[in-house]
Amino acid sequence: MHSSILGYLSRWILSALLVLSLLLPFGVRAADAQQIAATLCAACHGPDGNSTDPAYPKIAGLDRDYLAKQLRYFASGQRRNDIMAGIVATIGEADFLPLAAYFSSQQPLPGKVRNARLAEIGKQIYEDGNTETGVPACAGCHQSNGSGNARFPRLAGQHQAYTLQQLAEYKSGRRAADRLMVSVGQRLSADEMKALAEYIAGL
Ligand code: HEC
Ligand code: HEC
Repeated sequence: MHSSILGYLSRWILSALLVLSLLLPFGVRAADAQQIAATLCAACHGPDGNSTDPAYPKIAGLDRDYLAKQLRYFASGQRRNDIMAGIVATIGEADFLPLAAYFSSQQPLPGKVRNARLAEIGKQIYEDGNTETGVPACAGCHQSNGSGNARFPRLAGQHQAYTLQQLAEYKSGRRAADRLMVSVGQRLSADEMKALAEYIAGL
């Protein structure tokens, strides 16, 4: 009887240890990601991914898989940006997904429209596209409210300057890891890009 209690106890301890050893890496990873975010990413993107400096994109609330994919693009050089290339080189590939999950789980803050007339023009292109030049409706992929998903990133509330710069990079082919957005960018005029960036900031 004595030995069966001991056997039961040791089995219990063994399985508890096994569960712990399975859970521990995730706990450590999550803590790691939060710490990396606070020490390495916050300076530009804000502690919760809502950057206040328009030179840096808001990354709060964007889909986890989209964010992780962009980190891989920066690492491979498929998406060219010297700052982010330097950043991803200092962290391990294993941290990409936990970091993406952290920023994805943060509440995105709204942006600000500065020119309501321009935003009105942007809304029309966003909702209907431009049939004359073959610009597709942005809403068709990024959704009417700009909330996006894993395939088509969230745009809502983004800084005008960042949206404008990315549209220009798709148009020129500098950002071309995903050709789908290149074909959209190529059809946009400079005026349309400005109007779209203004409208998207207020979504
Ligand atoms: C020194 C400033 C700086 C720091 C620090 C920084 N970033 Fe960035 N990040 C940028 C800039 C600038 C861009 C825009 C790059 C471009 O134009 O392609 C960017 C873009 C991104 C994007 C793409 C966003 C999108 O919508 O496609 C992700 C994801 C990202 N950063 C994650 C991170 C993470 C995670 C960290 C910390 C490990 C970090 N960044 C640290 C400046 C920074
Ligand atoms: C056919 C689907 C599709 C349509 C239509 C579309 N997009 Fe996109 N968009 C994408 C995809 C896919 C990506 C991600 C590309 C990548 O990884 O570089 C993207 C990325 C973007 C980005 C970069 C976001 C970031 O966080 O860096 C912006 C800005 C953008 N789209 C704006 C627009 C605008 C404005 C329109 C309308 C004129 C539009 N898109 C229409 C599919 C689409």
